[in-house]
Amino acid sequence: MTSEKKLEPMPDFHFKCMTWLYKLADPIWNPRRHLKKIPLKEGMVVVDYGCGPGRYTIPAARLVGTQGKVFAVDIHPLAIKVVKEKAARESLTNIEAILLDSYNTGIKGSSVDLILLIDALHMIKDPHALFREMHRLLKKNGIIFMDAEHMKVSRAMEIVESTGLFTIVELRGKDMLIAPKTKQ
Ligand SMILES: C[S@@+](CC[C@H](N)C(=O)[O-])C[C@H]1O[C@@H](n2cnc3c(N)ncnc32)[C@H](O)[C@@H]1O
Repeated sequence: MTSEKKLEPMPDFHFKCMTWLYKLADPIWNPRRHLKKIPLKEGMVVVDYGCGPGRYTIPAARLVGTQGKVFAVDIHPLAIKVVKEKAARESLTNIEAILLDSYNTGIKGSSVDLILLIDALHMIKDPHALFREMHRLLKKNGIIFMDAEHMKVSRAMEIVESTGLFTIVELRGKDMLIAPKTKQ
């Protein structure tokens, strides 16, 4: 499959099941605890890539504050709907939810401080296209926080390294901090 073909979201039923599983699991494996490992700072521009139901989008938006911004991007219309509803409920005005059908987010290049790629890489059909887009988005000193959930760490590392665009700067369990190689 090439990156030009429109990306197909999972069926709505699967998305709803996934959301319920997260709801069940989150009190045990709390995303807030996970958030502490993510280098989020006030004022940052963040992309939550494959945001799903916004488990990280919402707390990230609170942390970056009104001077910062979180782009929540996903190929599933329900993800975008749920994130918009949650943002409205919490009066968070610094979230922009974007429905994708390709690897082009439409977000301005070299404008992003941090990309969250959490529990999403295993679902990406064309990882090279994804990493090219993330490289375009990041500022020179920008960084990706990736949680390679649902895949072997060795496979995730292999994918990152094969892009030739990034260096893994920190590895803790399935969590990685990934920096772009020199940008022009
Ligand atoms: C397992 S969920 C993880 C959601 C969220 N990151 C979390 O941890 O709560 C993966 C999400 O990635 C989305 N996704 C799959 N392929 C994508 C792509 N090419 N671009 C953007 N999102 C994608 C899916 O629709 C799904 O919502």
